[in-house]
Amino acid sequence: MEQYLKSTKVGFIGGGNMASAIGAGLIRKGILNSDNVWVSSLTERTHEFWKDLGAHPTLKNNEVVNNCDIVFLTVKPHMLDDALKTIVGKEESKKFENKLFISVLAGVTLKVLYDKLSAIVISPRIIRSIPNTPMMIGEGITVYCSNNAELKDMEVVDSIFSYIGMSHNVPESLMNGIGGLSGSGPAFAYLIIEALADGAVKMGVPRPLATKFAAQVLVGAGKMVLETGRHPGQLKDEVCSAGGTTITGIHAMEKGGVRGSMMNAVEAAVNKTNELTFQSK
Ligand SMILES: NC(=O)c1ccc[n+]([C@@H]2O[C@H](COP(=O)([O-])OP(=O)(O)OC[C@H]3O[C@@H](n4cnc5c(N)ncnc54)[C@H](OP(=O)(O)O)[C@@H]3O)[C@@H](O)[C@H]2O)c1
Repeated sequence: MEQYLKSTKVGFIGGGNMASAIGAGLIRKGILNSDNVWVSSLTERTHEFWKDLGAHPTLKNNEVVNNCDIVFLTVKPHMLDDALKTIVGKEESKKFENKLFISVLAGVTLKVLYDKLSAIVISPRIIRSIPNTPMMIGEGITVYCSNNAELKDMEVVDSIFSYIGMSHNVPESLMNGIGGLSGSGPAFAYLIIEALADGAVKMGVPRPLATKFAAQVLVGAGKMVLETGRHPGQLKDEVCSAGGTTITGIHAMEKGGVRGSMMNAVEAAVNKTNELTFQSK
């Protein structure tokens, strides 16, 4: 697969945060050959960044689709129609063929993507994905689904996202629910880290140390859950000795409604995604 990816031409329609998290991450890891990467954007704002990596930034979306076998759609959902409008086959009215599209657009369904892309490409193979930003450091989570991609496409996508974190193929019906956890979750976790650090600062710990340790607490606890396979409740119980400090802190958290707040946060993010999904139909 490594050899295949190195020699494959990969494009990004939209050169912002997500494109750089995926594309720049893969180029820096040596998975993609930068000379095989094309990136289009509305302005030249990100061109220097892509040029420095050795990729080909352009203002022409057409150039990306023309040159590449795999095309990531990395614009914001409301930008998609404008971006696709500018893409036409080599000859006027001739459509492109044999392209794999990978969308990261929140809430835009496979059906909507197919309807829009089939106007410019004959039988587009489409994968809908939800990555998250920790992929920038190789610790992302990406869920993806498709109803017309070939087995090889699914293997390619799984490999691409596995290089930058965890990757899971899920039914489309689960995409929004998981996105509320994995896509928005890093922001929820940053808030917890900040709050834990604030607590330590209040108790006299210098801010830089407090932030570093609060972050490591989440890394360590997350790895304990993943690597031991034990239930988080069991791991929590193991830290709480009878009448001790931790159970006293846990009681304070429960009084503050942390569990309900976290559940509400995921539910709110999923509801918002469902709303966006509805609007994009
Ligand atoms: N950020 C996250 O954590 C996250 C997580 C999961 C999924 N997503 C999804 O990722 C997608 C991209 O988000 P982002 O944060 O990367 O957005 P972003 O940083 O704003 O990047 C959007 C890019 O699209 C370009 N663009 C705008 N109109 C265009 C057009 N007509 N043709 C070509 N390019 C055009 C912009 O060009 P300029 O550079 O010239 O402005 C910019 O490079 C969204 O659909 C979002 O739902 C994001």
